[in-house]
Amino acid sequence: MPTPSTPRARIQTLRDRYVARRGPERAWEHLGPELGYADGKSLKRALERYCPIYGIELPPRVYEHLNVDERRAAEIWGKETTADEASVIQTALTSVVAPAELPIELPSAEELRERRRKQFERKQIVEEAKKLIPVRVRLDGPIGILHFGDPHLDDDGTNIALVERHVEIVNKTKGMLGANVGDTTNNWVGRLARLYGQQSTSAAEAWVLAEWFVSSVAWLYMLAGNHDLWSGAGDPIKWMQKCVATGYQATEARMELCFPNGRKVRVNARHDFSGYSMWNPAHGAMKAAWLGFRDHINTCGHKHISGYGLVKDPDTGVLCHCIQIGSYKLFDRYAKEKGLREQHISPCAVTIIDPDANETGLVSVFHDPAEGAEFLNYKRARKSHRK
Ligand SMILES: [Fe+2]
Ligand SMILES: [Fe+2]
Repeated sequence: MPTPSTPRARIQTLRDRYVARRGPERAWEHLGPELGYADGKSLKRALERYCPIYGIELPPRVYEHLNVDERRAAEIWGKETTADEASVIQTALTSVVAPAELPIELPSAEELRERRRKQFERKQIVEEAKKLIPVRVRLDGPIGILHFGDPHLDDDGTNIALVERHVEIVNKTKGMLGANVGDTTNNWVGRLARLYGQQSTSAAEAWVLAEWFVSSVAWLYMLAGNHDLWSGAGDPIKWMQKCVATGYQATEARMELCFPNGRKVRVNARHDFSGYSMWNPAHGAMKAAWLGFRDHINTCGHKHISGYGLVKDPDTGVLCHCIQIGSYKLFDRYAKEKGLREQHISPCAVTIIDPDANETGLVSVFHDPAEGAEFLNYKRARKSHRK
């Protein structure tokens, strides 16, 4: 090869030969002595010094000359890795053997999708079944339902003696069932747990009261109110309840009572129907009737006020008795602080259903449970007298 004539051409030639010889075999190291340098690194340093002076592109980094393993090493350690470093890393990588793929804790997407499909199917079945729960009434003739308003059994402001009296009325009146619209106890949680310091009943004692109440009567329905739902998935009442026709339900239970004579009466019970009106305390329950829930009885609690309204379905002639039920918590610190207007008539309501009556007499509503019980006794006695 003829010697290049100019310094620039010589450096260019050196660079090209250096690049051509460089590779994983380190052949370039021999090139240094061949060209009069102490070793390959001296040649490299010379090029790094003179190439910029003559405007010649520096030799590319070593990365593109690496073999597959060295390239992998370089990808791990960065593309600035030199061939020497890559070689060391390659040796390290190939001197140990790990399983091709370690087991992982998480289920696969396929397993998760399978599980989710089954869970959704189960939820769909449950939700469909709860849309209207069929309840077969075995007892012939009129029955009564005493709808207990928010009990808050452990609250110092709750009239527990009244709860006891009403439990007794249910148990002593043939054909009378209990119903609970929710908020069985205060169940203070989180920041509200400090409120246990403002009542004489402890959290543990509250569950003793709840257990007594839940097992005190035969229930048509029992709802979890917002206070009960604060327990989350582990609501103790769920495990306490035994004798509830529709089971312990969160927030709502809509049921169809099927009487022996074939009459069907729908009861739509919720802890709360949405909607407030300063002009109508039963606005929430009535709004539900106006908007489509044309059930014979709409009951709810939560607001701790009493109200009652009647809505007629013009299509079917069904009379919707819409009842906003008060609470046994008669003295309410929160209501006092807010200056809420006292709109309490009764902590409960009794609905008497006479399956033999016409639409007008099908459901009768009482705010005094003793009166309701007397009316039921009269109705049932009249029925048996007519037989
Ligand atoms: Fe509530
Ligand atoms: Fe309440």
